[in-house]
Amino acid sequence: MGKTERVRIFDTTLRDGEQSPGATLTHREKILIAQQLAKLKVDIIEAGFPVASEDDFKAVKEIADTAKGPVICALSRARGNDIDVAWKAIQGAKKPRIHTFMSSSDVHLKYQFKISRAEALRMSIEAVKRACGYCDNVEFSPMDATRTEPTFLFKMVEAAIGAGATKVNIPDTVGYAQPGEFGKLIAGVKEKVPNIESAVISVHCHNDLGLAVANSLEAVRNGARQVECTINGLGERAGNASLEEIAMNIATRKSFFNVDTGIALKEIYPSSRMVSNFTGIAVQRNKAIVGENAFAHEAGIHQHGLLANAQTYEIMRPEMIGKQSRLVLGKHSGWHATGEVLKQMGFRLSEQQLQQVSERIKQLADKQKIVLEEDIAAIASDVSGQLVKEKQMVVLDELMVSTGNKVKPTARVTVFVDGKKCTVAGEGVGPVDAVAHALQSVLPQKISLKEYHLKAITGGTDALADVVIKVENGSGAVFDAEAINEDVIMASANALVKGINKALSAGNKKVKPEKGGKA
Ligand code: KIV
Ligand code: ZN
Repeated sequence: MGKTERVRIFDTTLRDGEQSPGATLTHREKILIAQQLAKLKVDIIEAGFPVASEDDFKAVKEIADTAKGPVICALSRARGNDIDVAWKAIQGAKKPRIHTFMSSSDVHLKYQFKISRAEALRMSIEAVKRACGYCDNVEFSPMDATRTEPTFLFKMVEAAIGAGATKVNIPDTVGYAQPGEFGKLIAGVKEKVPNIESAVISVHCHNDLGLAVANSLEAVRNGARQVECTINGLGERAGNASLEEIAMNIATRKSFFNVDTGIALKEIYPSSRMVSNFTGIAVQRNKAIVGENAFAHEAGIHQHGLLANAQTYEIMRPEMIGKQSRLVLGKHSGWHATGEVLKQMGFRLSEQQLQQVSERIKQLADKQKIVLEEDIAAIASDVSGQLVKEKQMVVLDELMVSTGNKVKPTARVTVFVDGKKCTVAGEGVGPVDAVAHALQSVLPQKISLKEYHLKAITGGTDALADVVIKVENGSGAVFDAEAINEDVIMASANALVKGINKALSAGNKKVKPEKGGKA
């Protein structure tokens, strides 16, 4: 077996990823994502397209000036001014790179640019030379490479390398290629471009036919040594190749690929969560590697095997990507798993009680689709008479909201706070906001709502609402909570109460009460 070669991971979440419809990021979010990408140990961060807007320029510049570790790359069209502006943005980077591109397919040249192949070739050479005048790390992309006549593609790549490009990127811009075909194209670049040894072959695949990862991996098998990808597979239209899938394929099937990446695998899940939270684009539940269900086992037979030995049904350990494994209790779960989950939660049940709990979980799963830990705890404590471990400081007793197009949304909430019953009211921009204000007004310490996500689990107007929130306590600690209900206001109120209880109980553990003050 030959020496293991390194495949460079080029992350374009902040450039192509940000081009995802609806994925706009604030300046601060871009900086935090860049810091997280450095922790993830990507080799290159494509920080943006500086000429596109003042905001893009500023973000690329700040990332270039402050990032430690990865190469910082800026995108530019094959135009003088684009290249000059790209350089201005990244010149402060320890390791700067300019990435310039020009279309190569006839369909782009004829209809979009209205120029000949010869003109495209001339512009590409000029662009690469101009970029090389600024820095010695220059990448060139012939856009729409997979729909370009191969001999012209090879000629363009050769010309770009001749002009000084050290990386040549072959984009499947419209996600048209098939894996075998794309692999052959990369092999062709390696074989037919005479000066290819002077450059690294990169690939950049889009996911229009769901093949971005497969195409990228096939390219690696055929000699590509840089893969362009994004966290959660974000990107134009159906997105780019997903970084987490590329990295985990290479790590899990090491002897098959015989290459390595330098990715810090444990940072994969935190990176995915951060990008999803900042962009507001939820990760599909069953998405490979980072989806909520990726390491969740519900079928009884799987759960039984997993409890005996994780290798029975897991080819990767969730801890590898910085996540916990989960047994999900639902209608397919068996006794083994139910008993195990309850044991982990601190319950000690007889066989008969376990049977009753399993039955009730199945009934609930039929109705509710997802059974949360809190639901299981409530059922188990009901059946066994054992109390749920944590005492709840805030308990919701009654909730009434009024809203409409001619009234200010208000909420009237009755809660027990540390055993004391009180009724409060709140107003807000909507009914959920009104409930949040009412609840906040009775708390012994400031707890603020940081994030609120609402998903409809089932279709139709009777859909179950799944509310996921993040709340922050006075010491800056953040807590997640989730609740499901047929009524969206009730789901929101229950999630808020759960989050508040988590925040309060953490606060009680950490914060020492001052004399005469509240904890
Ligand atoms: O998809 C594409 O072709 C691109 C280029 C700019 C590399 O994003
Ligand atoms: Zn792209």
